[in-house]
Amino acid sequence: MLRRLHPDQPGSFAFTPDNQAWAEAQITKYPEGRQASAIIPLLWRAQEQEGWLTRAAIEHVAGMLDMAYIRALEVATFYFMFQLQPVGSVAHIQICGTTSCMICGAEDLIAVCREKIAPQPFQLSADGKFSWEEVECLGACTNAPMAQIGKDYYEDLTADGFAKLLDEMAAGKVPVPGPQNGRFSSEPLGGVTVLKDYTGEAQNGSVALATRIGDTLKRIDGPEVPLVTPWQGRPADAKASQKTVKAKEPKPAADKPVDTTGVSKQEAQAKSKAKPEAKGAKGAAPDPDIGTKPEMLTEAKGAADDLKLIKGVGPKLEKLLNSLGVFHFWQVASWGADEVAWVDENLEGFRGRVSRDDWVAQAKILADGGETEFSKRQ
Ligand code: FES
Repeated sequence: MLRRLHPDQPGSFAFTPDNQAWAEAQITKYPEGRQASAIIPLLWRAQEQEGWLTRAAIEHVAGMLDMAYIRALEVATFYFMFQLQPVGSVAHIQICGTTSCMICGAEDLIAVCREKIAPQPFQLSADGKFSWEEVECLGACTNAPMAQIGKDYYEDLTADGFAKLLDEMAAGKVPVPGPQNGRFSSEPLGGVTVLKDYTGEAQNGSVALATRIGDTLKRIDGPEVPLVTPWQGRPADAKASQKTVKAKEPKPAADKPVDTTGVSKQEAQAKSKAKPEAKGAKGAAPDPDIGTKPEMLTEAKGAADDLKLIKGVGPKLEKLLNSLGVFHFWQVASWGADEVAWVDENLEGFRGRVSRDDWVAQAKILADGGETEFSKRQ
């Protein structure tokens, strides 16, 4: 299948503060110089937040990882789990059409999608709330036919039951996921034949988790998924975040709308697209009151230094620095706090990189002919 970016794209993307903290924590999992390994989780979180992957989101993630845009685009277009076009603001329905599900009625479910959502996959419904596609086996074959909706599985579906689920979702409710025919999990339809004395949870593990977190349909904006970073000595964050979730999030089947307005974040963002950018936001104009512009060169004095030896500077950023008039380590080494603040503010798409990676300290070593831990590996 040819996978292209959608022709209609929003002008900008930003993670919510909680998602930004989560994304930055993921990057710290990887060794110096290997931050690009975080590309999949960051793109996925961007999609969880927006519903689909916009060009601005792909470029934003590439910027965070100091990757060329084309490399991030290659990843986003390769994996089918990334949606490259707008999806329903309430739910994108993924119907399994592989053997077990097909035999047990997947085609009837697809017929419901065609009738209630749109005639073709990836088409938005008239009200913009739903979209659908057929996918390959999702590994719940013993509960066929099934569909993944949001982050959860709805299993043992019938055409009528599935149509009712869509109606409930359209009305702002969050139906309980899992088997829809009364089964606990994937035991025989006639009832369990082993472990008959099981007296555990009322719901299977997946359903219980979905019910507790309440994230079946909603977009992920951060606090609902605990920020657990034991490698940074911060496991306690998990408990704090979990408490917040319990207090704030609606639960499936609580007869509550996805949000109080019934308007999703995706819709809200589309409506607020024309709002002026906040100061410091990606895409916003640099604030002229921040810092002092360092003395810049119109061209390199002799051979330009390889600025990519500074950790945090990739090919794109080096080009940007050159265009600003920065060619040498000694220039960066001479910056004081005011100059650092100015450059941080004026690195469009890479704001804050100078102080984040302490370029000045690195440049001082490199300007003196020394090597940093990072430059040794290049
Ligand atoms: S065939 Fe549908 S989940 Fe495996």
